[in-house]
Amino acid sequence: GSIGKDGYRHYMEKELHEHPLVIGQTLQRMVDPASRRVMLPEMPFDLASVPRAVITACGSAFYAGMIGRYWLEDIARLPVDIDVASEMRYRNPPLTAGSLGLLISQSGETADTLAALRSLREKAVHILSVLNVEHSTMARESDVVLGTVAGPEISVASTKAFTAQLTVLACLTIATARARGTLDALGEEELVSALLDLPSRAAEVFTQGEAVRRMAQVVAEARDVLYLGRGSMFPVAMEGALKLKEITYIHAEAYAAGEMKHGPISLIDRTVPIVASAPYTPLFDKTLSNLQEAKARGGRLLVFTDTKGAERVSAIAEDMVVLPHVHDFVAPILQTIPVQMLAYEVAVLKGTDVDQPRNLAKSVTVE
Ligand code: G6P
Repeated sequence: GSIGKDGYRHYMEKELHEHPLVIGQTLQRMVDPASRRVMLPEMPFDLASVPRAVITACGSAFYAGMIGRYWLEDIARLPVDIDVASEMRYRNPPLTAGSLGLLISQSGETADTLAALRSLREKAVHILSVLNVEHSTMARESDVVLGTVAGPEISVASTKAFTAQLTVLACLTIATARARGTLDALGEEELVSALLDLPSRAAEVFTQGEAVRRMAQVVAEARDVLYLGRGSMFPVAMEGALKLKEITYIHAEAYAAGEMKHGPISLIDRTVPIVASAPYTPLFDKTLSNLQEAKARGGRLLVFTDTKGAERVSAIAEDMVVLPHVHDFVAPILQTIPVQMLAYEVAVLKGTDVDQPRNLAKSVTVE
């Protein structure tokens, strides 16, 4: 192709290093840095009067949507339903006309997501799509498109498009919350400041390469890996497990940390590494006590945390990666970067075809 790897070993590695850039570029389109306010393009409907949102997508984009759900419910107090597109399409959920259909896709061509878009359109909902390819089929069929400014993504496994999707969903949440009167100007400034801080915090993540590679040595030896997280870190864990499966062919499963005791705790022993996303957020204590339960059963804990959580994590973890501490709101965006890096480093150790994993396609245009 015409796009080179710029000295990186794989497109995936290059694209991982573009996280800070694409978050910044995406924010540039949606945020006014002077007033610290979100400025979305003109919408053909009023965000204030939308009774609920239905989010649908496939793969990584679906996990971005799950984080979007936490934000829209918590900050904008908007009721949200979410499902993968291949299920949403056939569920026939009852929807009030004027609801918001929120579709997320890097390519804008994924057959299941496109079919879900069309079935939502039949229910007279407004179609808002978060897309990276802005001249795609989904773009043409949407009422409004919010672009992720991630540039072309070559690696089959999505990386930078995911953080760009999260950045857009964060801005959409702020705009929706403002319209619905659940966020005042001061609150908006606080959240926008946290977003504007992200590109430089994201750049700092790459100083943790050594620690990520250490963890990768452990994970590469495993046959099964359990990923854990709570709240907005649960979809981050799901994204980590998906990346690992996709490019290393190691079986991985993500669980809501608090649900582990209802099942996967029976799997835990020395041979199943536990990868946890546990930055210092309001759910930190709860997450840590779930990790204690796993450790008590012989689990080896590999933990992604931040500077505020590091001391307590180090008391129980076999190894950890310490990221800068950021506002809770943007923590899932930052914490995504090292879980994707981990999958990449494991794939390199295993010598798999990182950019073109077997059986997978960049854009799945069949149902
Ligand atoms: C494929 C890719 C995934 C991607 C998913 C959705 O399965 O391998 O990385 O997340 O499609 O693609 P989309 O273009 O709709 O975001």
